[in-house]
Amino acid sequence: MGKKYNIAVIGGDGTGPEVVAEGLKVLKAASSKFGFSYDTTMFDYGGERYLKTGKTITDEELEGLKKFDAIYLGAIGHPDVKPGILEQGILLKIRFALDQYINLRPVKLYNEAYCPLKDKKPEDVDFVVVRENSEGLYKGLGSFENKGTKNEVAIQISHNTRKGVERCIRFAFEYCKKRNSKKKKLTLCGKTNVLTFAWDLWQRTFDEVKKEYPDIQTEYVNVDATTMWFVKNPEWFDVIVTDNMFGDIITDLGAMVQGGMGIAAGGNINPEGVSMFEPIGGSAPKYTGKHVINPLAGICALGMLLENIGEEKAGKAVENTVIRLVQTKIENLSAGKMGYTTEEVGDMVAGGL
Ligand code: IPM
Ligand code: MN
Repeated sequence: MGKKYNIAVIGGDGTGPEVVAEGLKVLKAASSKFGFSYDTTMFDYGGERYLKTGKTITDEELEGLKKFDAIYLGAIGHPDVKPGILEQGILLKIRFALDQYINLRPVKLYNEAYCPLKDKKPEDVDFVVVRENSEGLYKGLGSFENKGTKNEVAIQISHNTRKGVERCIRFAFEYCKKRNSKKKKLTLCGKTNVLTFAWDLWQRTFDEVKKEYPDIQTEYVNVDATTMWFVKNPEWFDVIVTDNMFGDIITDLGAMVQGGMGIAAGGNINPEGVSMFEPIGGSAPKYTGKHVINPLAGICALGMLLENIGEEKAGKAVENTVIRLVQTKIENLSAGKMGYTTEEVGDMVAGGL
């Protein structure tokens, strides 16, 4: 008999719940095929609850999430709530409170037709970004001086600790070592030429840790140049490690290169604790309830969740089913242009497993 898992589900805002519902269909199909069982507990954290109660997520609720094997998240962000409140109050709070210090974002092209880059094939776009997920500019440190006056100064601090940087870099080396790729290359993406405190620490830490991984080829690339190479020569990359802010930016570009927000998934990982998986796109309010949102990014996130909890075979099978589907049936990944409803796409993956 297989194992049993407890999964927390946060549908969240906008199209989040619709996407998650399709992921849960796939989870059900995967559990019967691969012989594991699970319980899901649904949580209503998000914009609607905030508007009704003024609550984002409480400390007790955060504690509660620590008891699960994994968290499956749809999207956070509501048009009637001022930007920042839900993002900081729910999404970033969970990432920080559960110390999900890695944001793992695979950039993989499943079908040549989706790539906006000329002449790039699936084998050319297949890399992973390891984004530091607990520090940097996201730490929220800073201040105003003379706020509201002509002499106003706003200071926003990037906070990088040796421990935080090192655990992220180590994770990236280990991930690169285990990853099934021929390149075995880890790229440090930063800005050593301008941000001479933070990136000095990153570079020194990287240079130290790399001595323990003689089989991994390493390189340093500035973040601006990285965006250029993503477009020009994505085939150069294997694993990229970077800080929170740069990782946020380059993974949106990565998502476009792999075919858009309809397919891009990621994991907020605490290798020693509870991790959370989510499609990297937003809550897409204008498509809410229209049955046109693409659930594949959410389904790919579910695949990553399965791999993370120890159901590697099931996770791989989910990914392979998605690959088959996007190579044979779904010609356009954009919301409203798939040629199928959200539910039909979910059914196709669940059935195809
Ligand atoms: C992401 C998102 C979040 C981030 C926002 C919603 C706070 O853009 O997951 O990339 O900046 O990390
Ligand atoms: Mn982002």
